[in-house]
Amino acid sequence: MTQTATQPQTQTQPQTRPQSEPSSLPLRLHHHAWVTDDQEVNRRFYEDVIGLPLVATWTEREVLSGAERAYSHTLYGLADGSALAFFQFADPKDQEEFKTDINVTPLRHIAFKVEAETQEAIRERIAAAGAPEANAHVLDHGYCVSLYVTDPNGLILEFVVDHPDVEKIDAERRTTAHADLARWVAGDHTSNNDWR
Ligand SMILES: [Fe+2]
Repeated sequence: MTQTATQPQTQTQPQTRPQSEPSSLPLRLHHHAWVTDDQEVNRRFYEDVIGLPLVATWTEREVLSGAERAYSHTLYGLADGSALAFFQFADPKDQEEFKTDINVTPLRHIAFKVEAETQEAIRERIAAAGAPEANAHVLDHGYCVSLYVTDPNGLILEFVVDHPDVEKIDAERRTTAHADLARWVAGDHTSNNDWR
């Protein structure tokens, strides 16, 4: 009787990571959607305080989850053509059914790249509007400085001003991204943020 020894797996797994050529990547954010309880309160916040123009209001009746629902769908534009979208349903029962969760952690947020002047203008308009519920505050992450604001729906927005050396920082991080991840997953939780 012959025995066949099991050969140890010495070959590395085939490379399955998709290529990340710019031409094959998603082009940009199209929109981010949320539910608002009050489209007009929301419009005043986004258009008058934050400064994003209302670029569309779709008013629709369609079958969603097995029933016809009447709803409005507003979109607020960013410079690259992307948008923040907000739904509100005409029927309070529909509104309750489709309502998005409130933030249960400040780490659940959506972030926008802005110039420093834009960030300062938003901060000043929020201060002028006297909106303590917006909980506006600035954090310096080293590689960027961020203004955090809570919208009338509980969604946290972050307006990011990148460090002047952002291209150098991005290049460094990209070079070691996989090694940094492997190190962290293996249990080495040393900070690599030398920009703070
Ligand atoms: Fe963030």
